[in-house]
Amino acid sequence: MTIRAVVRGVGHYLPERVVPNSEFEASLDTSDEWIKARSGIERRHFAAEGETTSDLATHAARAALAHAGLQADDIDAIIVATSTADLTFPSAATMVQANLGMTRGFAFDVQAVCAGFVFALTNANALIISRQAQRVLVIGAETFSRIMDWQDRSTCVLFGDGAGALILEAQQGQGDVSDRGILAADLNSDGRHRDILYVDGGISTQSTGFLRMEGKEVFRHAIEKLAATAHTALEKAGLKDSDVDWIVPHQANIRIIQGTAKKMGLPMDRVVVTVQDHGNTSAASIPLALSVGVARGQIKPNDLLVTEAIGGGLAWGAVVLRW
Ligand code: UT7
Repeated sequence: MTIRAVVRGVGHYLPERVVPNSEFEASLDTSDEWIKARSGIERRHFAAEGETTSDLATHAARAALAHAGLQADDIDAIIVATSTADLTFPSAATMVQANLGMTRGFAFDVQAVCAGFVFALTNANALIISRQAQRVLVIGAETFSRIMDWQDRSTCVLFGDGAGALILEAQQGQGDVSDRGILAADLNSDGRHRDILYVDGGISTQSTGFLRMEGKEVFRHAIEKLAATAHTALEKAGLKDSDVDWIVPHQANIRIIQGTAKKMGLPMDRVVVTVQDHGNTSAASIPLALSVGVARGQIKPNDLLVTEAIGGGLAWGAVVLRW
């Protein structure tokens, strides 16, 4: 018998304030047309003053618990993927734990920027198959609006705030590709590229800093690496690109999403796309897309999914799972 980490519930939360592209036109030399044409983004949500990443994460966690029909104390571990935790420490995950009134288990954050949710899912899978935890709440939550340079039109129009959550549960599988749950993963990083996407501040440099990005370079790496990591993860599972029912990509740019689908030989009607409504929410974008994909009736039980993401580091990877 094989233990599989199977999705038991999913949920998301978006801050109330919706900011259309047109709002940037007043303060920046930009336009709705440019933003839509170059990125596919039409609007994004921004957290209210005083609303933190752990607040967003807690809302998403509650939605996932309700979807799963579970209580907080049914969970053994919480992993929050984020680069924008409320405080230097403790982790956003322990804050969510306290907010949920969960008095047992353990909680920690994972930081792999936009690839964070893929890394967190892989960690959760390892905890479940090594019997450290039966149920893991995996959250991607970000408030990237806090690290935007509002004078930099090449970055500040691209990002948004939000959170998504999945509950993974240990279930018996047969050990083949018909099993529900996580079937394989592929993780990578290459710190030689750290200067093309980074925040120019941090604790050890005693400043908060702003996000800086060489968009064209990151774009080039994304096009090259995302289809490759998805293909590798599928190969590890014993599957082919054509077996995929849904690509659930990191939502950074519609042109990257289209380019990856094309390289994988899959049509866009097999891709969950939310970038137009959320912008790039970094580690939150995949669980947000999963939750929206389920709510729209796109993702159904037993569908084969591949998630893929790339971000600062560079760090990138993919997870193959049967819903
Ligand atoms: O989640 C982490 C991963 N991040 C990503 O995957 C993002 C990857 N990169 C991208 O999505 C794209 O590179 C961008 C959307 C950031 C930019 O698109 P691009 O087609 O690569 O445009 P570009 O950077 O080459 O800029 C083209 C022009 C430039 O003007 P010049 O030098 O050609 O005169 C920019 O200054 O567009 C200008 N530009 C803008 N114009 C209007 C840059 N930002 C804006 C803007 N509005 N907001």
